[in-house]
Amino acid sequence: MARFIDEVKRTHSCGQLRAADIGKEVVLFGWVQYYRDFGGLRFIDLRDRDGITQVVFDPDLSQEAHDLANTFRHEWVVGIRGVVRDRGMQFSKKKGEMVSAHNTALATGEVEVLVREAVVFNKSETPPFEIEDSVDTNEEKRLKYRYLDLRRPKLQKIFRTRSLMNQTVRQHLSGQGFLELETPVLVKYTPGGARNFLVPSRLHHKKFYALAESPQLFKQLYMVAGFDKYFQIVKCFRDEDLRLDRQPEFTQIDMEMSFVNQDDVFNTVEQLIFALWQAVFGVDLKERYPTGHFPRMKFDESMRRFGNDKPDLRFDLEHVELTELTIAHKGGGVPLLAEIAEGYLNGTDRREVPQRIVKALVVPAQSTLSRADTDKLEDFCRSMGAKGLARARVGEDGGWTQSPFAKNITAEFRTAINEAVGARPGDLLLFQFGPTAMVHTVMANLRLHLGKKLGLIPEYGTRDAWKFLWVIDPPLFEFDEKTNSWAPAHHAFTRPHDDCVQYLGTDPGRVLCHRYDIVLNGFEIGGGSIRLHDPDVQARVFAALGISEDEAKQKFGFLLEALRLGAPPHGGIALGMDRLAMLFAGSESIRDVVGFPKTQKGTDQMTEAPGPVTAEQLAELRVGVIETT
Ligand code: AMO
Repeated sequence: MARFIDEVKRTHSCGQLRAADIGKEVVLFGWVQYYRDFGGLRFIDLRDRDGITQVVFDPDLSQEAHDLANTFRHEWVVGIRGVVRDRGMQFSKKKGEMVSAHNTALATGEVEVLVREAVVFNKSETPPFEIEDSVDTNEEKRLKYRYLDLRRPKLQKIFRTRSLMNQTVRQHLSGQGFLELETPVLVKYTPGGARNFLVPSRLHHKKFYALAESPQLFKQLYMVAGFDKYFQIVKCFRDEDLRLDRQPEFTQIDMEMSFVNQDDVFNTVEQLIFALWQAVFGVDLKERYPTGHFPRMKFDESMRRFGNDKPDLRFDLEHVELTELTIAHKGGGVPLLAEIAEGYLNGTDRREVPQRIVKALVVPAQSTLSRADTDKLEDFCRSMGAKGLARARVGEDGGWTQSPFAKNITAEFRTAINEAVGARPGDLLLFQFGPTAMVHTVMANLRLHLGKKLGLIPEYGTRDAWKFLWVIDPPLFEFDEKTNSWAPAHHAFTRPHDDCVQYLGTDPGRVLCHRYDIVLNGFEIGGGSIRLHDPDVQARVFAALGISEDEAKQKFGFLLEALRLGAPPHGGIALGMDRLAMLFAGSESIRDVVGFPKTQKGTDQMTEAPGPVTAEQLAELRVGVIETT
């Protein structure tokens, strides 16, 4: 008998054979997807990463192969040698006549392989779930047997796309003169940014490495080193609370460039994204973005109109800012709004950096939301920390019903609000007011929730499916309520706008910076900045953050020194590869596009990481464990 693999080599994949191959002798290896008997013959669907081929065992041709095939079960790994033939005709009970046996749903559906010889490489035990796209196995089980889950055609396709993405990025950026350079994963802990994973040092008692949350400082040092254009497809590690679009280890397409401004970075990214869409979908984004550029929106405007800095532009339902109107009408008779207006009028609240705001959102009359639906919306808002969800149904005469405001509100204020939001009879107005961050969060999520509920989001794969946006000019600092101090919104090495440098000492909240995010369909798919390479301004940024010269030296000394030793102006960006893959796959969860992902709780269902270690291992590292109850 022929020795498969050693002597008899695979000639084709299971997705390759076509009518033109009829008559050829072929060798296929793969997994048994289905088996069935029909008319004294045994039929097997043989699957590999490329597709499925029907193979037929006829006892008249080889009794031995037929007997062997009778033992095949799901997911056995087998090899066959045989001859390609047309599937021919078969009798249709439904039609009562002979019809073509071709299966148009399969790429290989015109042919089958008549087997002369077969071999079993592995007798799989019965798998814990069927390897089928349509099978709805719970995620916990799928992740426990991820290698089986990954056999499903849908996932095979996702990971082929990821491979194509990697190749496209490498090809495109190399063609643009970028060098692919590596950076360390074990780094020194530097404060700011996401929380790091820490790794105890065996050789250095009481000292720890951090796993790099991004190559940020090293890519800047490559610029100081004169490499001019750097990129890397790189793993980053962040010990954050996980969400559907976050993993503790994830992949970035990381880039840095010297002698560039914001427009140069944008051009580079736009071209890369055009290349990716062309490669993955064969879509020319130029049809949708004829200038070759994506629109830009200032951070402030994004917060005002959408409540966050990653607006989903596939649908409208914008927020309407009513704070100024509320102030002008002194709350218009509504006690809770009067209190907010009063704060601004007596100077407790500042308009430059508003701490409390009033916003509305209009649900158009034609979107039928019952009272029970709106009650549910209120529960949804409460679950995010809102006190409630004030609403008003607009009547024919502009009057309001079903509203807690209806009784007290002045006719003037009501008319002014109707005008500001463009209300029409039958519309439902939804209001939030109070602390700025809370109002933004609640209203941003409410907008998304309604967008889905009211069916306003174009379906995946349709013409309007991709909406890109650059969000630009955010504040350099954000106020940290916990520490009661200013903290960098991104990192401390972002260049402030020249005309804002004057506020560094006096009014940090007003300092805008050259940071930018690229947003796709409501997901932040990338972020970066033009860096601060001027040591004087850098010192003033640290001062604004309350970081002394000594402290700065101790924490970031190596970078500050490098910036004083011939640092070119530079800037860059990192794109979230997994998020891109997730959007490419039309998936709702990043776990679908990561080979061996962690669960929401940060665990690996299959290997059971993180796992315990022995007392000896801890002793070697001189690490103690604090027991908590
Ligand atoms: P940033 O922190 O914005 O920037 O990260 C860049 C992009 O990486 C993706 N991303 C994630 N994806 C999955 N899981 C996560 N936990 C996660 N965190 C971030 C997002 C994000 O837009 N060093 C800077 C880049 C720069 O300034 O050049 C940085 O890391 O898509």
